[in-house]
Amino acid sequence: MNKINVAVLGLGQMGATHVEAAKESPFVDRIIGYEPDPGRAALRGKELGIGNTSNLDEILEDKSIKLIYIAAANEAHMELAVRSLKSGKAVLCEKPMGITLDEARTIIKAEKESGSFLQIGFEARYSMLYMKVKEWIDSGLIGRPLNSHCLYYCSEFHKKNTWRSKSKGSLIGEKLSHYLDLPRWWFGKKVTEVFAMSAPNFVNYFNHPDNHQITYRFEDGAMSNLNFVMGIAESDLGDPLKDILEKQSDDGHVLRYMIYGDKGAIETDVFRRRIRRWVFSDGPEKLESKIVEEMKYDKSQDLLYGHNVHGQNLRIAELVAKNMKPENPASDAFETMKLCFAAEKSSDTGKPILMNEIADN
Ligand SMILES: NC(=O)c1ccc[n+]([C@@H]2O[C@H](COP(=O)([O-])OP(=O)(O)OC[C@H]3O[C@@H](n4cnc5c(N)ncnc54)[C@H](O)[C@@H]3O)[C@@H](O)[C@H]2O)c1
Repeated sequence: MNKINVAVLGLGQMGATHVEAAKESPFVDRIIGYEPDPGRAALRGKELGIGNTSNLDEILEDKSIKLIYIAAANEAHMELAVRSLKSGKAVLCEKPMGITLDEARTIIKAEKESGSFLQIGFEARYSMLYMKVKEWIDSGLIGRPLNSHCLYYCSEFHKKNTWRSKSKGSLIGEKLSHYLDLPRWWFGKKVTEVFAMSAPNFVNYFNHPDNHQITYRFEDGAMSNLNFVMGIAESDLGDPLKDILEKQSDDGHVLRYMIYGDKGAIETDVFRRRIRRWVFSDGPEKLESKIVEEMKYDKSQDLLYGHNVHGQNLRIAELVAKNMKPENPASDAFETMKLCFAAEKSSDTGKPILMNEIADN
């Protein structure tokens, strides 16, 4: 088997997740981690049991390193991605694809010019829950998709005085990009316009909005909506998608999609750990609907059915080791990022934004 060496840039919480997956991959030989501060590089390298450096060139010039996972703070994504791609490395870069649209454009330009492998970390596309939605829609089980909405309410689990609370980028790119990306993927259509609003903040130490209402329309007239609030739940014990779902599910946490087609509907509910499907039929007096399928999963499957970073990363190592192309092209992730930045613009200006007014470069 062709094994590759890999590097992880940024050794915080997500960097550790990337390291764990790389350790388990049969396609990975050696792992090296990078942090700009030598003390932190050494500390995290030791804690994670990997080689480490604070000299990025050491990684970029090492021909045996084929794949770079970028898990640094968002503000660093653009520079790290561009330098890695230009050095001929394959790259899995965490979302967001930069903190401005221009940064996202710069990353795409570097990908095109270098011809290097680039995939963006939209790992919800590797979630068993959301893959099931895609499978049901693609096999025609809800007919023509017409309307989806996502409710996402969680506690504020980001600490004060961190890059997250001070970020120049918004939560739309940082967090909601996953949940705007999924309907784009499921519906398989171009987004034509978006209208977004934010109310004043709940979390006063964020320097960006913490709640969003985003509505977007697809080229065939279908539409989608995302309603996100951070701050209401009591069980603020860490990442809202991990470990304490039972308490959170009765505590104001919601992460639920309803997806309606002209022949049926689908519901995904992370805090109830289930997915259901309805079929609509023409009754004698009115439209009738019936729940025809329900699947549940248990706590041990949360990561597989939720944000499956682990599965995504195992797959990326395999793709790169086998010299294959990205499964989810960066150009498609760029469309999601364009939607995120258009939503920010709409929120700032109070006006709907037509996507064809947003240039690709
Ligand atoms: N895909 C997901 O679901 C998901 C979930 C969580 C985080 N993330 C993403 O992962 C990234 C890291 O998030 P986190 O939760 O691990 O944050 P974190 O604060 O725990 O870690 C960030 C790390 O980046 C390091 N860093 C800062 N500037 C750097 C630079 N120029 N070069 C290299 N390292 C640098 C910091 O020292 C820190 O160790 C973010 O982009 C975040 O959006 C994605």
